[in-house]
Amino acid sequence: MDMFLNYLPLNFALFLHALLVMTETGAEFNAHQFLKWQNGGGYFHKSACIDPTAHIEIGAIVHSKSVLGANVHVGSGTIIAPSVAIGQFTKIGYNAALSNCTVGDSCVIHNGVCIGQDGFGFFVDEDGNMVKKPQMLNARIGNHVEIGANTCIDRGSWRDTEIGDHSKIDNLVQIAHNVIIGKNCMLCGQVGIAGSVMIGDYVVLGGRVAVRDHVSITSKVRLAANSCVTKNITEPGDYGGFPAVPIHVWRRQIATQCRGSSKGKS
Ligand SMILES: *[C@@H]1O[C@H](CO)[C@@H](O)[C@H](O)[C@H]1NC(C)=O
Ligand SMILES: *[C@@H]1O[C@H](CO)[C@@H](O)[C@H](O)[C@H]1NC(C)=O
Repeated sequence: MDMFLNYLPLNFALFLHALLVMTETGAEFNAHQFLKWQNGGGYFHKSACIDPTAHIEIGAIVHSKSVLGANVHVGSGTIIAPSVAIGQFTKIGYNAALSNCTVGDSCVIHNGVCIGQDGFGFFVDEDGNMVKKPQMLNARIGNHVEIGANTCIDRGSWRDTEIGDHSKIDNLVQIAHNVIIGKNCMLCGQVGIAGSVMIGDYVVLGGRVAVRDHVSITSKVRLAANSCVTKNITEPGDYGGFPAVPIHVWRRQIATQCRGSSKGKS
């Protein structure tokens, strides 16, 4: 084989050699193992398991060992990474990236959503350098979940990140690693949820609400826009402010502040 390679121009010989090595080691990224899906014209890996009714638009790619249920729709530019499972009737828009995750039935995933990438975890080693903590687990999305454009949901490091059934998420929401969100929650635009947060069912987070890492919020809590949760909320009800407090306490704080500032002016 090496004799044969010696007679070819160097670049081509190297290319051929690389190709042979890839085939011999069974490397996953071998273009020959991708085929065109007749229903839409996107590409899929031979080892993917795709229901015949699924639609994969041109420019979308479904990688090895992924599973797509009946009537799943994958928009152009979307990448389904290896071993991702997507339930029936789920619709995915353009340019989404799904890796190391499972998505349930009848979900709507809008353009540009990213699910299952590494969480933001580092520690300082003995030499004072930032070292990456492994982020090896998955993200799990329930059934009937809607995820707005450019929202990001990271995979877990010590437990899977989870979004419960029927929860609805707006555009530009950040959900960090190990977060668990219950059923029927509603997260408005620009909400940011830090790592390992636990949120119950029927929780509503107004626009730009921030939740500190490792905090837990019980079911049936509503947070006013722009509030910031810094410690556990254990009683259902409405909250607001930074740090978030029961809504009537927050209103009193605002009223006191306003009186204070108008006194200062006179
Ligand atoms: C999925 O997880 C595996 C194991 O941690 C990792 O090697 C792989 O790169 C991940 N896939 C993507 C597309 O990030
Ligand atoms: C907050 O809630 C979590 C989960 O229920 C619990 O493990 C933790 O101890 C609580 N933190 C405080 C400060 O009460």
